[in-house]
Amino acid sequence: MKKYRIRGGIPLVGEVNISGAKNAAVAILPAVALADGICRIENLPDIEDVATVLEILRALGAEVRRVSPSTVEINPCTIDTETVPYDLARHMRGSYYFLGSLLGRFRRARVPLPGGCDFGERPIDQHLKGFTALGAVQAPLENATVALSAEKLVGNSIYMDKVSVGATANVMMAACKARGITIIENAAKEPHIVDLANFLNFLGADISGAGTDTVKIRGVDRLHGTNYSIIPDQIEAGTYMAAAVATGGDVLVRGIIPKHMESISAKLREMGAEIEEYDDALRIFRKEPLRHCNVKTMPHPGFPTDMQPQIGVLLSIAEGRSVLNEDVYDKRFRYLDELRRMGAQVEVDGKIAVFQGIDRLRADTVKAVDLRAGAAMIIAGLVADGVTEVEDIRHIERGYENVVEKFRALGADMELVEV
Ligand code: EPZ
Repeated sequence: MKKYRIRGGIPLVGEVNISGAKNAAVAILPAVALADGICRIENLPDIEDVATVLEILRALGAEVRRVSPSTVEINPCTIDTETVPYDLARHMRGSYYFLGSLLGRFRRARVPLPGGCDFGERPIDQHLKGFTALGAVQAPLENATVALSAEKLVGNSIYMDKVSVGATANVMMAACKARGITIIENAAKEPHIVDLANFLNFLGADISGAGTDTVKIRGVDRLHGTNYSIIPDQIEAGTYMAAAVATGGDVLVRGIIPKHMESISAKLREMGAEIEEYDDALRIFRKEPLRHCNVKTMPHPGFPTDMQPQIGVLLSIAEGRSVLNEDVYDKRFRYLDELRRMGAQVEVDGKIAVFQGIDRLRADTVKAVDLRAGAAMIIAGLVADGVTEVEDIRHIERGYENVVEKFRALGADMELVEV
């Protein structure tokens, strides 16, 4: 078993380079299956979820050549099946993007229900609502596999009952090859939605309005290959920013798009951080004591739910009372059980967590209950008094590239331990 061992109390100082966005990569790579030409994708994060999607593309028959840890060349022309293997799909959430891309390519798709982080119920009813509106028919669920088929895909107007990143991305992919115009209303506006739309347009799609709540897709007959570079990861950047603020350090976060960081920067400034923004970097440091504040997670451009556990650690050591409202998921507070072991004073009532800040967390052995919760446990270890061990780190390795090297380069006393 592998775990991280972290000695807390060292302010993080130095530079960190941000990798490509996981949630853009796990949508763009399946979208390659819509193309009938070679695609070269650059700035991919070297993480397990990306490796799994590449394995799925190979299993579908695509030729996949890893040019470097962050660049891959894919020839989707040899894809010869619409069925995604169960044993690969269940490792991650993003496997469901093959529903949209294979439906767009073959008018058929068979994809096992996705895995991914456990935040309680994570339905895909909005995805299916969109596919059905385009003319797809869903066979009865068999072996937890979604099977869709369509005589033809025809553009339609779709109103999303709930803002959903996955459903917006999935329907956008299928609509690229539908006849006529599709309008997605109440669409998700995350940076990775815009990145996917840009990639699809590089393939020859005709998408406008991505990044707003109304996306218009005019279907086309074919999509050719392209070269494309993934945007930097807003959440990885936010995680290192939160760690810098938690430890009272001074960190230059490089290779970012400052506009993507606005809601995270605003909240960290409210807590006492100072942030200097440059073209593709920002410097974050803190001289004042951490101030308590209230946080509510919302779809973009609100404060991202994927930063909720990380900011929760800051609230647990910010003087005073803070209220954290997780408004996107039903059950995304499981990490608080681990944080309480370290001394955090926090009460949960449904979607609300109320923190009473304490001076310092106590080192302990804790678990990464999911990807972002795992990142939060690293931050907690960096500020705790003593040596913290973080177990179940496979969750963290799914989504953070070279996380030990990056934290050590910032001065953290952190090591990977094989037991
Ligand atoms: C994506 O998940 C991300 N994952 C998540 O990041 C992120 O937390 C989430 O978007 C919100 O930003 C990937 O991109 C692979 P949603 P997704 O559909 O698409 C409900 C991480 O840490 N909903 O926007 O599954 C859903 O239950 C991961 O990188 C429906 O009710 O999220 C949730 O409450 C964790 N019906 C809310 O909407 C549906 O059909 C938002 O989910 C779809 C979603």
